[in-house]
Amino acid sequence: MNRPKISIYIATSIDGYIARQDDSIDWLDRVGGFGEDYGFQKHLSSIDALIIGRKTYEIATTVADPYPGKRVIVLSNSLPAVREGMELYRGDLTALIAKLHIEGVRHIWVDGGVTISQFLALQIVDMMTISIIPIILGAGLPLFHVIDKEISCRLLSSQSYASGLVQITYALGVG
Ligand SMILES: NC(=O)c1ccc[n+]([C@@H]2O[C@H](COP(=O)([O-])OP(=O)(O)OC[C@H]3O[C@@H](n4cnc5c(N)ncnc54)[C@H](OP(=O)(O)O)[C@@H]3O)[C@@H](O)[C@H]2O)c1
Repeated sequence: MNRPKISIYIATSIDGYIARQDDSIDWLDRVGGFGEDYGFQKHLSSIDALIIGRKTYEIATTVADPYPGKRVIVLSNSLPAVREGMELYRGDLTALIAKLHIEGVRHIWVDGGVTISQFLALQIVDMMTISIIPIILGAGLPLFHVIDKEISCRLLSSQSYASGLVQITYALGVG
């Protein structure tokens, strides 16, 4: 591939929200404490960089080192700067991916609903793992926004857990 692999790994409510309207994500805790990380560490160790939206950045950086050892690129048109050790980017996303490829990045995790939909619209997402949390939030920030594309997805795996979480993984753009 002449660009890095791009993956989505995200948790959503049954009705498709990734956070409440006020950005709270404490409802994710209901699947914690089952001795299960739902493949998170495996996913984290497989990527070498993240591209996250400004809103995800603001939530993630409420903890000291949210993505240890990973290169983090924050997308924002409004922030003047980001935390030391992270990078701020505004501009063409295809150009960003090309730049990261030249710099040796091989696998990128894109995170944040608005951000994810932009990469889907560019049709450069290769893998998508969605963990469905057993809750209906009724309202919130959506995982998917309108994009002007249809994207074929091939189911790679589906797994249910004792916590009630259901995880599905797709390869995109095939099948
Ligand atoms: N459930 C989960 O697993 C999960 C995972 C991740 C995040 N979350 C939650 O989801 C929420 C954030 O998601 P979100 O969909 O609201 O937003 P988001 O994608 O994290 O951030 C959107 C912001 O990113 C910036 N941005 C995006 N694309 C850009 C581009 N091409 N160029 C420049 N800037 C760009 C813009 O920032 P500016 O306005 O600064 O220009 C935009 O307002 C948070 O509450 C977070 O906690 C949940």
